Amino acid sequence: MPPEARFDAHAHRQMASMFDDVSARYDLLNRLMTLGQDGAWREAMWRRVPEDAAHVLDLCTRNGVSLPGLQRPGRLLLGADVSLQMLEVAQRELATFGWGPRLVCADAFRLPLRAASLDAVTVAFGVRNLRPRIEALTEIARALRPASALVVLEATAPAPGPLAPGHTLWLRHVVPAMGRLSPDPSAYRYLSASIFEFGAGPEFERDLAAAGFAVRECSRYLLGATTLWVAERLGQVPDAGAAGVQAARGASGGIPQASSLARAARARAAEARTWLGVQAAVAAALAAGLMWALMEWSKSNGALPLSEGQRWLGWGLLIAGLVGSAVRAGWLALRWSTAATPRGGGG
Ligand SMILES: C[S@@+](CC[C@H](N)C(=O)[O-])C[C@H]1O[C@@H](n2cnc3c(N)ncnc32)[C@H](O)[C@@H]1O
Repeated sequence: MPPEARFDAHAHRQMASMFDDVSARYDLLNRLMTLGQDGAWREAMWRRVPEDAAHVLDLCTRNGVSLPGLQRPGRLLLGADVSLQMLEVAQRELATFGWGPRLVCADAFRLPLRAASLDAVTVAFGVRNLRPRIEALTEIARALRPASALVVLEATAPAPGPLAPGHTLWLRHVVPAMGRLSPDPSAYRYLSASIFEFGAGPEFERDLAAAGFAVRECSRYLLGATTLWVAERLGQVPDAGAAGVQAARGASGGIPQASSLARAARARAAEARTWLGVQAAVAAALAAGLMWALMEWSKSNGALPLSEGQRWLGWGLLIAGLVGSAVRAGWLALRWSTAATPRGGGG
């Protein structure tokens, strides 16, 4: 199968065979490429699923890495993937916890679930592989009940800005180079190309809207290399022309609801912004303290019984500390002032 066929619409067979081939070193390479952050990002995704969500699907679950984190007493948790081999790995690995999760081998475009039967869907690093995306999102929307949550974690392309050249270099050269450690290096060339194809985020948000979702939260990690979206399934699935779309129960005319999801997202964003502010204030106080110490040092170091080397070391430490904490305070203040606030939804 030519590697370019992976970009075809409904290429679930190519996807399953590619992920089967790379499974042996997938976790190691994933950890290296995300600088060890992938676990923390998945945890952030799990936390976005409302605690009271009773029927939850982890789509593109691969080896079920997210299933233990999503498990809650009384929750019916389902893992779905198109690769049977991956699901067998999931079964084996999760059995070591003494737990047999419910796994289903299914294509994201044809979920074997009744309309409006789910309270939340999570997709980590999987949505990029689903083409055409609006069709896959429409199918997910069909399976979700109105006002429920779709939580997506995905690698994103460089957004315009000063960090774009470094991010581009990483994706174009470092990722494919690291992929040479994989049993199938072409999978990592695909990874790089598919991230550029996916875009920096706005394209995906347009697709979410077209499929009947309202974005409630968008958090960026590692300077935008990965993005987490929390989207609310609106009352009605728009007629996107996709075959098999069914009317959802309890439709409310497509008007965004003042949902608990939106309220929770706002509360989380407000808390994160408060902590950023506190950190910025601490860094600014440290910078001010170091400034004062530097002025005292400049007045008194000549009178102290120190060698020339010790004097230079004192200058060096104070100046480096001052510059470091001032830059950190500025960076945190910038993030505080631009901190994402959840969108949409009434009170
Ligand atoms: C990058 S892995 C994601 C793994 C996992 N969610 C994680 O957090 O590591 C993508 C997964 O999506 C699955 N996949 C690709 N196309 C699919 C489709 N059409 N339907 C269901 N699963 C699909 C692949 O088999 C693969 O296991």
